[in-house]
Amino acid sequence: MRLLILGGSAFLGRAVAAGALAAGHEVTVFNRGRTAPDVPGVRAVRGDRESQEDLARLAGHGPWDAIVDTSGYVPRVVGDAVRALADSAATYVFMSTINVFPDWPAQPVTDDSPLHDCFPDAGPDDGDYGTLKAGCERVVARDFPGRALSLRLGLLLGPHEDIGRLPALLLRMADAGTTRTLRTLAPGDPSSPVNPIDVRDIADFVLTAVDQGLTGGYMVAGTPANASTYGELLEACIEATGSAAELDWVASDFLQTQDVEVWSELTIWIPPGEVPWETDTSRAEAAGLRCRPLRETVRDTWAWLAADDGAVRRSYQPRRPHGLTAEKERALLAAWDARA
Ligand SMILES: NC(=O)c1ccc[n+]([C@@H]2O[C@H](COP(=O)([O-])OP(=O)(O)OC[C@H]3O[C@@H](n4cnc5c(N)ncnc54)[C@H](OP(=O)(O)O)[C@@H]3O)[C@@H](O)[C@H]2O)c1
Repeated sequence: MRLLILGGSAFLGRAVAAGALAAGHEVTVFNRGRTAPDVPGVRAVRGDRESQEDLARLAGHGPWDAIVDTSGYVPRVVGDAVRALADSAATYVFMSTINVFPDWPAQPVTDDSPLHDCFPDAGPDDGDYGTLKAGCERVVARDFPGRALSLRLGLLLGPHEDIGRLPALLLRMADAGTTRTLRTLAPGDPSSPVNPIDVRDIADFVLTAVDQGLTGGYMVAGTPANASTYGELLEACIEATGSAAELDWVASDFLQTQDVEVWSELTIWIPPGEVPWETDTSRAEAAGLRCRPLRETVRDTWAWLAADDGAVRRSYQPRRPHGLTAEKERALLAAWDARA
């Protein structure tokens, strides 16, 4: 199979490139060469997806069996790529998000739930992330008719994560007893659910989906059979890093009275009663989606971060700050100790 990845050097796109190469496919990546080095073995075409000339030049490198668009966020920009490449590939796989559903996270959603209302030529200021992704889905379906596939992804983790979530938890555990205290704030209850998906499982599903000629919309997130808990996630981080961290579970009600951000500072944690982990992946599972255990994702992410004698870890630059600073963690634990 011949694949073109729009992006392909960072987190998810990188996993798709590596997975496709490992499965024996031919991979072209299209990016500006700024964010990260390409996976060895791909054919790289340099260019900017916001340039019509670069897209026209890219089309000359085809044809492909499928285009995998991991880097599309704005309908107008995605539309330009779709039209420039319409005669160059059989299928267009758009990496979307569960945020396309306005009902989520307040209510459980299915693949057939309504999407945000966004016109297919919207610009960057015409909506928030989920709304614009819904517009992107529409322009792909309109201009690649009958050959478009949208994968609505849940939380992604895995090696090469550039967002900073799982790395923040791993680095916290690794630093326990050296630059951080052994006593480690753990939010809420160890039995709180978590159900992320490993980018490598998405990569496998992309290949399966293209092979089967799937079209339409599929939710691709952690499957119910793979559901885990926040306690297991932290224990897996402790095990992977060989840490002696001592978890101190701090009640959710207390944390919600404090000046601390859930999800980012309290990484990957949300207060109980919200439903973001309950995702209906039945359609994708029927088509072949399989998820590896969270412990494996955590172990391999640490193996990547700790590689080269810690060189990767030392140069790690997350896209956004995640995790508690040592000072804030100390202050929260002191307030927790001092509670009435
Ligand atoms: N993280 C999550 O939990 C989550 C959840 C749901 C859905 N998603 C979706 O998953 C996808 C993540 O994709 P990703 O990890 O591969 O990262 P990404 O940030 O979407 O893509 C980065 C790649 O695109 C290239 N790129 C960026 N701007 C470009 C431009 N103007 N022209 C050409 N290439 C460009 C970058 O290389 P250069 O900078 O070198 O050009 C890099 O290779 C996104 O679509 C996101 O919406 C993520």
